[in-house]
Amino acid sequence: METVLSGVRPTGKLHLGNYLGAAINFVKMQENYKCFYFIADYHALTTHTKAAMLRDSSLNVLIEYLAIGVDPEKATIYIQSHVPEIAELYLFLNMFAYKGELEKCVTFKEKARKEGQTLNAGLLTYPVLMAADILIHKAHKVPVGDDQMQHLEMTRNFAQRFNHYYETEYFPIPQAFNNGEELLRVPSLDGMGKMSKSDDGKSAIFLVDDEVAILKKIKAAKTDGGPSMPNQIKPIEIENIFFLMKMVSDESTYQFFDEAYNNCSIRYGDMKVQLAKDMNLYVKPFRERILELQSDEAYVRKVARNGAEKARESAQKTIKDVRDLIGLNSLH
Ligand code: AMP
Ligand code: TRP
Repeated sequence: METVLSGVRPTGKLHLGNYLGAAINFVKMQENYKCFYFIADYHALTTHTKAAMLRDSSLNVLIEYLAIGVDPEKATIYIQSHVPEIAELYLFLNMFAYKGELEKCVTFKEKARKEGQTLNAGLLTYPVLMAADILIHKAHKVPVGDDQMQHLEMTRNFAQRFNHYYETEYFPIPQAFNNGEELLRVPSLDGMGKMSKSDDGKSAIFLVDDEVAILKKIKAAKTDGGPSMPNQIKPIEIENIFFLMKMVSDESTYQFFDEAYNNCSIRYGDMKVQLAKDMNLYVKPFRERILELQSDEAYVRKVARNGAEKARESAQKTIKDVRDLIGLNSLH
């Protein structure tokens, strides 16, 4: 059976981009694969997260995994730092990562631009830690959004170099995965870029958002003056609203507004109200389950403990094999 692995950084609440881009596949894949889903708290340190915030956010992501339907009986759910073997594999893989390629990584360049003076080496080697996450369980498939494509390519490179150097086929070469389709990029409501946790919540729809919040955000989404000619190409901010509607509304609703756009009768106000209604129905079951689980911390902690135990067992086996391959003297 193939192994699946993915993770989310505990830097805030899960939004529709996280869900549609990655987490929806966590739930689908747990039926047919051996799955590991974790909370990337080591990764969150690269952007200097405060301790209390990190603790809360890690539990919160765990709650949100459970709320969307990740089942601890079917998948192993754990917090990254509970499996220190990952840090050891990260050290080994650093020997196979070239400084030049790390500096060329798009996410690094973006963060480097924002961070300025506080730029740290952890950010540079972020893709190596990510490779360690994936390779520690010898994963084959990694459900992620489009923004992680380059990171996955780097994981493949490190794994190939390791295999080549030690003349082994020990690590499978993993692939980014979205149900056999192209990786997704869910747009932000502000008409620019992708939906993300760090845009102060105005242009991301969070799974925990209520009806009022959703309507407010969607109403504020950027639109234009409307089409002036039939069958005009949609500008990006309009395309984005249609994209979201395609994701959460019925096909017939989408068709209705698409036709209205094409014959220039569209009223964006009506479209937004409809989208907000459908969006609310879409996220409501998640929101309700999140609120329920928030009042059962004992259960959530138990899931984390059991998950850590299972994840460590798998990780320890890999580390032992890797130490042997590398030629480190073991005690046995
Ligand atoms: P992050 O919140 O950056 O830790 O991302 C967790 C997962 O969600 C990763 O697999 C990302 O690729 C995915 N993701 C985050 N934002 C988006 C987005 N706007 N569209 C699609 N996938 C996304
Ligand atoms: N880098 C991913 C992100 O920003 C999170 C992540 C860390 C991850 N390690 C991973 C995703 C391993 C998939 C597999 O979203």
